[in-house]
Amino acid sequence: MDGLREQSLAAIAAATDLAALDAVDAALFGKNGSVLQLVKGVSSLPKEQRPAAGKAANELKVALQAALEARRTALREQVLAADLLAPDFDPTEPGPALPRGTLHPITIVQDELVDLFSAMGFSWQDGPEIETEFFNFDALNIPPEHPARDSMDTFWLQGGHLLRTHTSPVQVRTMLRFPPPLKVIVPGRVFRQETVDASHEHTFYQMEGLVVDRGVSVANLIHTMKTCLQQILRRELQVRLRPGFFPFVEPGFELDVNCPFCSGKGCSVCKHSGWIEILPCGMVHPNVLRAGGLDPEEWTGFAFGMGLQRVVMLRYGIHDIRLFMGGDLRFLRQFDTL
Ligand code: PHE
Repeated sequence: MDGLREQSLAAIAAATDLAALDAVDAALFGKNGSVLQLVKGVSSLPKEQRPAAGKAANELKVALQAALEARRTALREQVLAADLLAPDFDPTEPGPALPRGTLHPITIVQDELVDLFSAMGFSWQDGPEIETEFFNFDALNIPPEHPARDSMDTFWLQGGHLLRTHTSPVQVRTMLRFPPPLKVIVPGRVFRQETVDASHEHTFYQMEGLVVDRGVSVANLIHTMKTCLQQILRRELQVRLRPGFFPFVEPGFELDVNCPFCSGKGCSVCKHSGWIEILPCGMVHPNVLRAGGLDPEEWTGFAFGMGLQRVVMLRYGIHDIRLFMGGDLRFLRQFDTL
């Protein structure tokens, strides 16, 4: 056994490259390798010799494996050192490309909108996703018996708290925090107890807009919305207002744009009307100004609540809202603008 040890250690030391070492490894530990044979042979020895012989064989096996490993590490280091010294080694050459993520389409559109509104003098406000009943409803002139408060729509938490159902609560928070005139946008996540389908999600993104100043008019609202929508949807467009009811605006509107898919002629996307509903908006209700500590005789304003998914869907022609949160990378990787 000592002979085998000496021989094997010598063979390991004599291996001058990794291929030679692999050959030694195979000769010792391969199918008919000598160490393996030795271990196997233990069982055919007389019973009283087996324990001592088994122990010795095992020690030899462990020692040779360690020697192989040490030699292998040394040879790898030699190869690396040689590579580094090779005349054609270029340390400035880029390594293998690392896999890189992409921005989510909602993030892309939100960033663009923020830039656009910043250029028009708006500033960004944040508000809490866990809201009080007061800011989500009362301060917005939504009376206790209003159906929007129904537990069907709202995720209620303990102690009169809730997950905000829209970004509008930040309107009054902003009025209470800063003196007018105000021009703010509030991008954020909102929650509703909805059954999820191709056009409804329980968690979605809005961007609230609020302007408060003296003498603000519907004409200002239309101009602002048209300018912004043209840029974000990247086309010349027409807008129209239809009456829409929201307790916190008076008058309230649904703002439509002419259908990009049929240029107004009528198609399945616009349900043959030629128009696509894009966002609700209106003039800030006097009660909301009051809740924000402002005198409605002096101050006026407009507000809008853009559904970001809706804008993204229109811009990219996406037909199922569930794709946004579905986590399918094949969908998400299509928006690589980095
Ligand atoms: N907060 C409303 C909603 O989520 C949208 C809205 C905002 C309507 C501002 C009018 C003015 O449904």
